[in-house]
Amino acid sequence: MATMTDVARRAGVSVATVSHVLNETRPVLPHTRQAVLDAMEELGYTPNTLARSLVTSRTRSIGLAVSAISNPYFTEILQGVETAALEHGYGLLIADPHDDPEHERKVVQLLHERRVDGMIVAPSADPRELLAYLGRHKVPTVLLDRVVGTPADGATGFDQVCADSAEPMAQLVTHLAGLGHRRIGLVAGLPGLSTTSERLTGYRDGLVAAGLAYDDGLVVHGNSESPGAEQATATLLSLTEPPTALVTANNAMTMGALRSLRDHGLSVPDDIALCCFDDFAWADLFSPRLTAIAQPSRDIGAQAVSVLLDRLASPDRPARTVRLPCDFVHRTSCGCPEQSLMSVKGTAS
Ligand code: HPA
Repeated sequence: MATMTDVARRAGVSVATVSHVLNETRPVLPHTRQAVLDAMEELGYTPNTLARSLVTSRTRSIGLAVSAISNPYFTEILQGVETAALEHGYGLLIADPHDDPEHERKVVQLLHERRVDGMIVAPSADPRELLAYLGRHKVPTVLLDRVVGTPADGATGFDQVCADSAEPMAQLVTHLAGLGHRRIGLVAGLPGLSTTSERLTGYRDGLVAAGLAYDDGLVVHGNSESPGAEQATATLLSLTEPPTALVTANNAMTMGALRSLRDHGLSVPDDIALCCFDDFAWADLFSPRLTAIAQPSRDIGAQAVSVLLDRLASPDRPARTVRLPCDFVHRTSCGCPEQSLMSVKGTAS
């Protein structure tokens, strides 16, 4: 196997120069740099990243912890993170904390012990231990999807990247109200997540904008998962005066809601209209096709990498929160006929 000495000899430079090219520890003249890269290529030289880490104290790796990785929304975020990381020469270590605070702190500690240069984490509903750990060890971190903190709880020292939640949700509600619905049910997410509370705020805002009163009985938590949503939908359908339209607050809960509607023998949109937060690849294969809010998942992942790299380059810069807009994807589960559909890209933020 070729060594750094072999590369130096072939390129006609010192081993120190090869090291500076590899580790970017000092500027090297372009033609010298090219000679070193050519020599590496010709000799089939593979850098030893462990040895490099000892020189630079950097591993060129990012730890990513998101629950649940099997959810297409988070899988797409992962793809965005992976592509952007690779573009900048970073590899990934991935963990799934299963939205469990204890599991979350454990996996984050594990990633930290592997000496990742920084982390991207979607915090659970109770992230106190996680945030305390990251703060204590000064781990460069970007929080993703679920934002945390107000100045009062001391959590605002973190960079955060997320999608808009309130306005897009309000848009679904006003759309349904515009179609004549007066009783709009919400299958809400897991309490404690910012996405849950912001979507609930958006639901209320949408009702206010449409001149409808808020009714507590029309909001049932499906806890962000399909089985919870199935149960929540059944609860809504059992009301003396059930909703004529339903909004689900994420993709997994849309599945649960659809299962419950089918089990109750209800057809969408004739018996009950449906609008969903979260679009996914096969949402337009359902019959009717699902009217949904599409989150910019890949872009969320890419932005998280960009913000993390900025943080690594300038550790003392003030923390910032990046919010990305969503798209309203108008299909037919809301009750609109196919011919009337309009594309309203980008208006949901
Ligand atoms: N946050 C935002 N969108 C989502 C989530 C979540 O946790 N799960 C599925 N879609």
